[in-house]
Amino acid sequence: MTADRRAEELLGRMTLKEKIGQLSQAGSTMTCTLPGFEADIETWVSEMLQGKLPKEELDRRLAMCKENLREDEIAAGELGNFVNLYEDEKIAAVQEVAVHKSRLGIPLFIGVDVIRGYRTMFPTPLALSCSWDMECVRIMAATAKREAYDGGVNWTFGPMLDIARDGRWGRIVESPGEDTYLACRIAKVQVEEFQREEEDGCRLMASAKHFIAYGAVSGGQDYNTVDLSQRQLFEVYLPPFRAAIEAGAGAVMSAFHDLNGVPCTMNRWLLTDILRKQMGFRGFVVSDAEAVKQCVTHGCAADEREAARLSLEAGGDMDMSSLDYAKYLEQLVQAGELEEAVIDEAARRILTKKFEFGLFDREYTYGRLRDGQPMLSEEHRRRSLEVGKRCAVLLKNDGILPIRSEVKKILIVGALAEDKQALLGPWAFTGSAEPVATIVGGMKKYAEEGTEVRYVRGFGADADCSGFEEACEAAGWADIVIAVAGEKEYMSGEAASRANLHLAGCQERFLDGLVRMHVPTVVVLINGRPLAVGCLQENPGIGAILEGWHLGTECGNAIAEILYGHYNPSGKLTVTFANEGGQEPMYYNHPNTGKPGSDFKFTSKYQDVPVRPLYPFGYGLSYTTFSYGEFLVEKERITREETLKCSVKVRNAGSCAGEETVQLYIRDVVASCARPVKELKRFEKILLQPGEEQEVRFELPAEEMGFYDCCCKYVVEPGEFRLYAGTDSENVLERTFYIV
Ligand code: BGC
Repeated sequence: MTADRRAEELLGRMTLKEKIGQLSQAGSTMTCTLPGFEADIETWVSEMLQGKLPKEELDRRLAMCKENLREDEIAAGELGNFVNLYEDEKIAAVQEVAVHKSRLGIPLFIGVDVIRGYRTMFPTPLALSCSWDMECVRIMAATAKREAYDGGVNWTFGPMLDIARDGRWGRIVESPGEDTYLACRIAKVQVEEFQREEEDGCRLMASAKHFIAYGAVSGGQDYNTVDLSQRQLFEVYLPPFRAAIEAGAGAVMSAFHDLNGVPCTMNRWLLTDILRKQMGFRGFVVSDAEAVKQCVTHGCAADEREAARLSLEAGGDMDMSSLDYAKYLEQLVQAGELEEAVIDEAARRILTKKFEFGLFDREYTYGRLRDGQPMLSEEHRRRSLEVGKRCAVLLKNDGILPIRSEVKKILIVGALAEDKQALLGPWAFTGSAEPVATIVGGMKKYAEEGTEVRYVRGFGADADCSGFEEACEAAGWADIVIAVAGEKEYMSGEAASRANLHLAGCQERFLDGLVRMHVPTVVVLINGRPLAVGCLQENPGIGAILEGWHLGTECGNAIAEILYGHYNPSGKLTVTFANEGGQEPMYYNHPNTGKPGSDFKFTSKYQDVPVRPLYPFGYGLSYTTFSYGEFLVEKERITREETLKCSVKVRNAGSCAGEETVQLYIRDVVASCARPVKELKRFEKILLQPGEEQEVRFELPAEEMGFYDCCCKYVVEPGEFRLYAGTDSENVLERTFYIV
């Protein structure tokens, strides 16, 4: 029997309360009565996430609290889905109640943020996108799926597909970057791999989030309002969701903010007209955490009862964490204010996915499942390392890297080099810092015999510069200094926007002083967002900058392999680095304007910073150099039904093997709406031996060169186009072609 038929049959046997239970998702609650503590878990968690309370202390306190896993509600059929339960035993316990102790035995959806790994952590999504390598994306999803499934999770709140053009926004770290085309590619691979069923039934349902345009929050300030034209919505923000839906994503999560005045959670136009009717989505919509009740705070619902009705009627099928559906839907039906059919429809959608994703066909035997498939296995760590190496981006190099074998005394400075939690990075709640490879550890592990690696703290990502003298003294001993600077894990992620994009605290001053020791210096950045690091770029005392992001469990090993030259860096930026935070949002695919920025006074620019970004989209160096040769367009005039075919020759002109991401952009020169100065349309990552040349061929249907016109209709307009091929969004070869 098909999933829909099975769902329909089950629905026919359910009470109204049980149906509402399927529309509700909640996490556990804690009760604490600890001697000497004001027990306020929300505040503790908030303090931990701001770096004010060590995670170990939070864990210690929580261990003394009593957790309520809501077993009574589950047994009564009043709670059909759980959120963010990370421990296998607890997942097993709640599922056991649902399957064996509730009247109908309906398994729970256990939804968790498996966005960059489960126990073995991979690079942050932003870092992962910098690999431009869909096999890396697939490996992350496959490994996370295996570990999460074995732990009892059946639903991931991922992929996160918010296009992010503003470095101030903390959640840029969770995003696939600023480009829509790249995000579409990532969306497809992640959804397919998370949902692909392995032989033993292992799979996760994916959910595309946050619907929609969360990355466009005003001023880059998290949760802020979004006022956006429909053209931008259709062209920039919707396509990755369309790609996820086409790949079969089971769920979509609506976003926190209000879009053009209406909170996404209760936005019927968005959740029903656009998502279902226009985009053809057939799964269910879950709200973001407590977003149903926040409709009241937005000022768009009088109370939580109304918020529940408006959200459900808009097309929000499941309420995450507000428990407003559980509290009010039955009353609303009884009072004749809500049609029961609306509840039926939402329950039908959710149950269909439970059948489709095999929840009813799985034997709930946790613990045993993991035999022979350990979490954090050597193999999984190896995968995280291989992926991690491909995500770091070399931003500057005067030849100091890779570290030569004559270099025998290596000094590492900076607390982040030893800070497991920071190297692990944000959005890693299911992982743990304990197994993280540090940079100090990695540098020692991969050092050649006879090379000594020393570490002094010196400075951290804060205002404590007290280790300056100690660091300078140690630098006097060293042949090379590796200074590790950037952000702690809590400085990016949710509710972690920053107005100032410089290195925080005393880091800039510290580094500036340190290089005055005249010891060759490399800066490794550990951070979640594009930082305004122009002072490092300009400082001649800093020989190289490696953007290491937060690479996860194998972070330190991945960075060490690159610094020693065991791996030739190949990452390229997927977000523009602005010179100053005041330039944000800064992104490569902006319209030209009537007065494009230049040295001339009356142009679109800021007076006090360069017009060009610090590092453009697509940028990243290698230990070798690539030269771009013959760039050919097969046919310069194509019709709207035809496909443009072109090729470019790329040669490894250096002396070591290396990977290059060859990028293809277009520009519609004259159109009825102002078009971006460049739009990424294709890319390919290739490996070239020294001296080797490869012809990279691209095919691009004219159909993909259109845009949403002023009436929001997708059109491909004839006329002149530019075609660019190159190593980044600025450094390109150029050709002309026409759509006729
Ligand atoms: C975040 C979501 C996440 C959810 C559950 C929310 O605060 O915005 O991205 O999936 O929490 O953890």
